[in-house]
Amino acid sequence: MGATVEPIVADPAELSAALTRAASVVESALDALLPPEEGAEARLATSMRYATLGGGKRMRAFLVMEGAALFSVSETCAARVAASIEMLHAYSLVHDDLPAMDNDDLRRGKPTTHRAFDEATAILAGDALQARAFEVLAEPDTHSDPQARCELVAALGAAAGARGMAGGQMIDMLAEGQTLDGPAVTRLQALKTGRLIQFSAEAGAILGRAAPMQRHLLAAYGRDLGAAFQIADDLLDAEGSAEETGKRTGKDQEAGKATMVAVLGIARARQQADMLAQQAAAHLDGFGERAALLRALASFVVARRN
Ligand code: IPE
Ligand code: IPE
Ligand code: MG
Ligand code: MG
Ligand code: MG
Repeated sequence: MGATVEPIVADPAELSAALTRAASVVESALDALLPPEEGAEARLATSMRYATLGGGKRMRAFLVMEGAALFSVSETCAARVAASIEMLHAYSLVHDDLPAMDNDDLRRGKPTTHRAFDEATAILAGDALQARAFEVLAEPDTHSDPQARCELVAALGAAAGARGMAGGQMIDMLAEGQTLDGPAVTRLQALKTGRLIQFSAEAGAILGRAAPMQRHLLAAYGRDLGAAFQIADDLLDAEGSAEETGKRTGKDQEAGKATMVAVLGIARARQQADMLAQQAAAHLDGFGERAALLRALASFVVARRN
């Protein structure tokens, strides 16, 4: 006699409320953790705050906060890690938008940092945001156990570096105007986007000193979620508008970017994103009801319009 297992579905309104709440918690943490605007270097602090505060979906922050809640980690510790990943992510966007990279002038519905300030300031804002992200992780308030802080620093370093986000950005730049096949685009996207999302999903398990298997499941969820997320970003570039996304669209094709839309076309890219989102959610089945919002996030990521 097998009992039927009902799929656990979270109410979309509940997810939306939880995303808004995580965004507000991380906004306060960022405001407190970013340097004050004073001294001869005040322009740098102003640009860092411009690039980081008051915008973005804060999905990486939400992943940290929800993952940490699975292991009953204090919200103040989780918020510091959430702020740290959002600083690192903001740095990646500031540099991604530079003329030498994607050359964009609109981000989160306002002028990109190099447009609002200048290129040198934007480069330095990215540098300093990256440094501050690691500094925050290493500070004692992030976790009472130095081993946990070291693991966070090592994991974020691996996710952001040459075999992570920066490496993926290198492949992205080299691939402009080239024809990459599906597996090559999958790897590019796993590095440039997937690794930071994987870190965000895993961070709660590091903070909560979770068993290796639990951390492994969250990492697997993050990898598939990240892959689905970047395909959705490619689809939004192809089909969305600047009003919806807060950034200029239609640019990937113009720049000859290696995207999943370029390889598969719109319809098959969407199928691939949906499949990856389902696969992501399935990794968390064993966590039951407590991971319902994280599972629901996978559907949100592929259906989003911004
Ligand atoms: C944009 O990330 C860059 C990608 C990795 C596709 P997000 O879509 O998460 O950007 P914000 O933080 O919401 O602005
Ligand atoms: C950016 O990918 C990924 C990063 C590491 C910042 P995209 O170049 O597609 O991101 P958007 O579309 O500019 O946000
Ligand atoms: Mg780019
Ligand atoms: Mg870009
Ligand atoms: Mg894009």
